[in-house]
Amino acid sequence: MLAMTFTARDIKDVATAATQCAIVPLFQGVKLSGAALKLDKASSGAIKSALALGDFSAKSGEIVMLPGAGSRKRILLLGCGDAKKFDRAAARKFCQQLYRALEFTQATEAMLHLAALELKEKEAAWTLAYLARHLVAASYRYTETLTNPKAPWKLTRLVVNTHGALASRSASAALREGKAIGTGVNEARNLADLPGNICTPAYLSSHARRMGRNNVKLSVTIVEEKKMRELGMGALLSVSAGSDQPAKLIVMHYKGGKATDKPHVLVGKGITFDSGGISLKPGAKMDEMKYDMGGAASVFGTLRAIADLELSINVVGIVAAAENMPGGRATKPGDVVTSMSGKTIEVLNTDAEGRLVLCDALTYAARFKPETVIDIATLTGACVVALGSEATGLFANEDELAEQLLAAGTESHDRAWRMPLWNEYQPQLKSNFADLANIGSPGGGAITAACFLSNFTESYRWAHLDIAGSAWNSAPKGATGRPVALLTRYLLDCAGQ
Ligand code: BES
Ligand code: MN
Ligand code: ZN
Repeated sequence: MLAMTFTARDIKDVATAATQCAIVPLFQGVKLSGAALKLDKASSGAIKSALALGDFSAKSGEIVMLPGAGSRKRILLLGCGDAKKFDRAAARKFCQQLYRALEFTQATEAMLHLAALELKEKEAAWTLAYLARHLVAASYRYTETLTNPKAPWKLTRLVVNTHGALASRSASAALREGKAIGTGVNEARNLADLPGNICTPAYLSSHARRMGRNNVKLSVTIVEEKKMRELGMGALLSVSAGSDQPAKLIVMHYKGGKATDKPHVLVGKGITFDSGGISLKPGAKMDEMKYDMGGAASVFGTLRAIADLELSINVVGIVAAAENMPGGRATKPGDVVTSMSGKTIEVLNTDAEGRLVLCDALTYAARFKPETVIDIATLTGACVVALGSEATGLFANEDELAEQLLAAGTESHDRAWRMPLWNEYQPQLKSNFADLANIGSPGGGAITAACFLSNFTESYRWAHLDIAGSAWNSAPKGATGRPVALLTRYLLDCAGQ
């Protein structure tokens, strides 16, 4: 994938600035001023005539491409609608239209004149971060197993003219942040899009090792099945029992803070294929269960983003990777396994495997004396029923952490919605033959899954993100890279950056 570069420059003389495409955002009914007016004059009134002809009225989402002259090859007019109504939703639309318009050109570079929008500094920075993130995300191409993949995204360089809009330093910081998040999102999408026969637990562990080699602040260790047995991770091991692929517990330690700073721990569900096991899933859409490592993918993507941004905190990423398959050695309904915590679990349904790998990873997480622990998992179909694909389900054993994550979701437009984790749901997990059953009675499936996990997270501040609805799209099929943006925003907030 081609890396995009973003630069912020304070350009006073827009008339002579060379560019393949000058991007001019305009509000409806507002007189041309600043860069827009200068560009209009320098191009013999081309912008004014487009407006006079009525072909372009700067309605929100409207786009017109005008031929340029001299060293300015094109002028892209982008309608931004009513100036008073330019909120974050409008800024998002602006970003979407911008890359849609650029997709149809041969331009490899473009120059955005931001001042025309007259935004407050904070909003301008937010818009730039969002824009960079989405331009990078738009450049994502799945290529791995295609003979003729979609042509690469042509635009590789965006220059932002900050003159009259915001300080170049804040613009550069915003662009850097957006680019890092976009790159993290693409990393997560790519891992999740890979088929289950390529992206196995072993593949994820070599991927982690490679990341560790490329970053001095990231150290990687893999807990193999033999070690898991010694640690008593009977729940995790019960999931990989039917598979020829050994499970891997991948531990990635990002050390950006002081040695004494307590780390934030991210725990990802990494089921590289979920057949359901002996409680076999029906055939329809079973291919989509390659995405059952979406939580793990988001841990990789987030670590990539925070390492790029050199956050000054410590973060531990733990990925519980396993393949859930039927077979002669597979765990059977009714089997009782002992988790690392010592609690016994009756596996009533081998398809409720996510919570089995997670509970041991969550017990393991305690050894890092964490500041917070957040697990991310494509955990339940019930969460998709409850929230659809817009919102990630959020559960937390502490209100402040829940509020912080909700705020990070809103800020990054990668939103979550809080669900209850009340004790009253716990009796659904009672078993006559073990300390806990791995499924509840019918009703509230996303909640009982979270309640199951809460039995293993009592010693620290913990949140659980159920991304079963938000991690991928079915049409067209593809991973979304969520919730990398939410998590990176949260960690940026934690670092005060
Ligand atoms: N990976 C699935 C959850 C899932 C299903 C995510 C559909 C996205 C779309 C998980 O392992 C699972 O199978 N959960 C079961 C739990 C049930 C057996 C209690 C489910 O949701 O049906
Ligand atoms: Mn399952
Ligand atoms: Zn699963």
